[in-house]
Amino acid sequence: MAVGAARGSKVVRHYRDTEDRKKAQDKHWELAGTQMGSLIGVAAKNEDREAADDEGGEDFRGNHQFKDHMSGESEAVSEFAMEKSIKEQREYLPVFAVRQKLLSVIRENQVTIVVGETGSGKTTQLTQYLYEEGFTKSGMIGCTQPRRVAAMSVAKRVADEMGIEVGQECGYAIRFEDCTSENTVIKYMTDGILLRECLGDGDLDQYSAIIMDEAHERSLNTDVLFGLLRDVVGRRSDLKLIVTSATMDAEKFSLFFGGSTPCFTIPGRTFPVEIMHAKTAAEDYVDAAVKQAITIHLGGSDGDMLIFMPGQEDIEVTCALIKDKLSGLDEAPPLAVLPIYSQLPSDLQAKIFQRAPGGMRKVIVATNIAETSLTLDGILFVIDPGYCKLKVYNPRIGMDALQIFPVSQASANQRSGRAGRTGPGICYRLYTERQYKDEMLRATVPEIQRTNLANVVLLLKSLAVDDLLSFHFMDAPPQENMLNSMFQLWTLKALDNIGRLTDVGRKMVEFPLDPTLSKMVITAVDMGCSDEVLTIVSMLSVPAIFFRPKGREDEADARKEKFQVPESDHLTLLNVYLQWRTHKYSAKWCADNYVHAKAMKKVREVRAQLKEIMAEQKMAITSCGTEWDVVRQCICSSYFHNAARLKGIGEYVNVRTGIPCFLHPTSALFGMGFMPDYVCYHELIMTAKEYMQNVTAVDAVWLAEQGPMFYSVKETRGSAIAKRLESVRTLDEMESEMKMAQKEMKKVKAEQ
Ligand code: CDP
Ligand code: MG
Repeated sequence: MAVGAARGSKVVRHYRDTEDRKKAQDKHWELAGTQMGSLIGVAAKNEDREAADDEGGEDFRGNHQFKDHMSGESEAVSEFAMEKSIKEQREYLPVFAVRQKLLSVIRENQVTIVVGETGSGKTTQLTQYLYEEGFTKSGMIGCTQPRRVAAMSVAKRVADEMGIEVGQECGYAIRFEDCTSENTVIKYMTDGILLRECLGDGDLDQYSAIIMDEAHERSLNTDVLFGLLRDVVGRRSDLKLIVTSATMDAEKFSLFFGGSTPCFTIPGRTFPVEIMHAKTAAEDYVDAAVKQAITIHLGGSDGDMLIFMPGQEDIEVTCALIKDKLSGLDEAPPLAVLPIYSQLPSDLQAKIFQRAPGGMRKVIVATNIAETSLTLDGILFVIDPGYCKLKVYNPRIGMDALQIFPVSQASANQRSGRAGRTGPGICYRLYTERQYKDEMLRATVPEIQRTNLANVVLLLKSLAVDDLLSFHFMDAPPQENMLNSMFQLWTLKALDNIGRLTDVGRKMVEFPLDPTLSKMVITAVDMGCSDEVLTIVSMLSVPAIFFRPKGREDEADARKEKFQVPESDHLTLLNVYLQWRTHKYSAKWCADNYVHAKAMKKVREVRAQLKEIMAEQKMAITSCGTEWDVVRQCICSSYFHNAARLKGIGEYVNVRTGIPCFLHPTSALFGMGFMPDYVCYHELIMTAKEYMQNVTAVDAVWLAEQGPMFYSVKETRGSAIAKRLESVRTLDEMESEMKMAQKEMKKVKAEQ
C-alpha cells in the first residue's frame, strides 16, 4: 500500500495549516458541549464533582449543560437500565457460561492463557470471578491494560457492576493518578504501573493473582512484564497468572511459559460480518470514510457505526465533516457523532458506552483503542480505512516518532469483527482485497522491536538484570535498538562506560518520566532551580494548556501572548503556572486567560507527586528566583541531543543530524523578531514539516559544556574536528566495551 510519504501528505491535506486544524478542534469542543451533552448517562457522579471544583472554568460550562440534559434525559437512561439488570447483563456474557470450568482450570494451574472474542467478558468478569471465589483473601487481583483509557473505563464499569464507587473495592492506577484505597482488592492499572511496582517489590507480594490483559497487543511494557513475571511465577507458587488475548497467539504465550500452560478458549457468540473491499484504494481516507458513513446513515437500516482513524486530528476532522455534510442535507435523520481517543477528557469518553437518546443512531470515530480494548455494543457497521499510528524509532531523526502505517491483517480482522457483536454486520474496508492479501503484514510488529528502549533499559538495569541481551524476551528487540538506547542513557550519564547504572541513573529510575525529563530534574537540583524545573516538567506532562474557542480566537491569542517569554516555550509554561499560583490556583483566572482549568489542576497534582519523589530522594527544592537563564542552561543539559542551529527565518537544522526542523507558529519564539542562533527542543512533531515542539534558546557554549560527546565550540576548525573524532571514538569504545562485558557475563552465567 502506498504508505509513508504519499499517505502522509494526504493526511496533512485536511489541515493545510494550524488554523485549519484548530478550527476543527474548536468545532469538536463545541460539539462536546452540545450534542454530546445530551448523551449523558448514569455515571455522571464524578464529573459533577469535578465540575463543581472547576467553577467558572470553561469545562464547567460544558458540564453544566450535561447536567441540564441529564434531568431531561433521565427517562431514557432508566428505560435502558430497566431493559436488563446488571446481573442479567453479566450473566448474558459468553464467559459466564464457562465460569466454573474456567475457574477450575485456574485453580489447577499457576499460569492460564485465556482466549476469547472481544466482548466475551474477559476484562470485566475475570477479576470479579476471582474476587467472588475468595482469591482476594490473600492479596489483590491486579489486571494490567496497555491503555490508560481502558484501565479507567473498565474500572468504572466493574465498580458499577459491584455497586460501589470506583476507588473502593475496585480501583485503578495510571501514571500520575492513583484511584485506589486501602479497601481496593481489584486493581486495574496500565502495564507501566505494574512494571514500576516490580521496582519496589520484585515478587509483587501484595497480589494473589495478576491478569495480563490484552496480551495480543504486545505493548512494550507488557512484553517486559512477560519476562519478569515468568520469573516471579517461578519464585511464588501461590501467585496465579492469567494471560488474556483476543486473538490466537495463545500457543506462543503458552510456549513462553513452558509449553504445558493450558489455553482456555471462551466460546464466542458472534454474528457473521460481511466484508466489502474497496474496488480501488481510497484517495483520501477521511473523505472516503465520511462519504461511506453518510451513505450508511441515509441508507435506512438500523445500527450504530464505528469508524477507525489513525489519530486525534483525523478523528476531529472526520467528526466535523460528518456534522457539516449532514447539516447541509434536508431531513437527514439525527446522528450522534462521538469521538474517542486517549487524550479526550474522560467525561466525554464515557459517552461512547451510552445509548443515544430517542433511539438516535451513533457513529463512533475511534483510534485503534476500539479494536479490542473497549467493547462497544450495538455496532453493526464498521468503516476501516486500514491505517493506524504506530510509535516507531526513526533513525533519521534519532528518536521515536508516531507515524501512520497500514494495519496488519490481524488488526483488520479484529476491526471487522467489531460489526458482529450484536447482530450480523457489515465492514467496509477502504482498501482493496489485493492490498489486504499482498501488502499487509500478518501481525503487527511488537512495540519492543520498533521503539526506543531507554526506559526499559533503565528499569531492567535497576532490577539488576545486567545482561539485557540475554533477558528472556518473547521476541527479542534488535540488538542495535538496545545499543542505541544504552548510548542515549550513557550520554545522559545514567550508564557508565561498561553499561552499569550510575548514581544518576539510579535516581532517574525513581521518576515516572522519560529519561531526559528525569535527568533535567536531577540536574536542576545542582543548578539551584529545581523548583522551576519541577513546574516545567509537570507542565510538559499534560497535553493542552491553552484553548482557543471559536469566535474568540483573537482574544485567546492576545491573552496567550501576554504569557510569552520570548526566548523560551518552557519558560512561557513556567510563567503561566507561576501566575496561576499567584492567583491562588483560581479556575476563574484560567477561564479569563483561555487556559484549561482541568489541565492546570492536573499539572498541580503531577507536580505534587514529583515533589514527593524528590523529598524521598532527599533532593533539595530550590528556586532561582528571577534568574531564568539558569533554567535554560538546565534545559540544555538534558536536551543537548535535540539542539538545532539557525539556518533561515524560522528554519533550523539539527546540529547532530543536519535534518531541517522548524519553529511552530504557536511557539513563543515565532514572529517575535528574535531568532536565537541555537535552540533546544522537547520533541519533533512531523506533519507537513518537521516542527520543533517546546523550544528554548540556548547558548553555543552551554551545548559544548553539556554535551561534550556531541559538540564543541568552534574556536578553531581543528579543535572541532578533534572533538568530533573523539566523540565517535568514545561511542565506538563504549559499544565494544559493553559488548565485551556482556560476553563476559554470558560466559560466567554459562559456567555457573
Ligand atoms: O474483555 P472483553 O473484550 O472480553 O470484554 P469486556 O471488556 O469484559 O466487556 C464485557 C461487557 O461489558 C461488554 O458487553 C461491554 O459492553 C461492557 N462494558 C461496558 O459496558 N462498559 C465498559 N467500560 C466496559 C465494558
Ligand atoms: Mg478486554
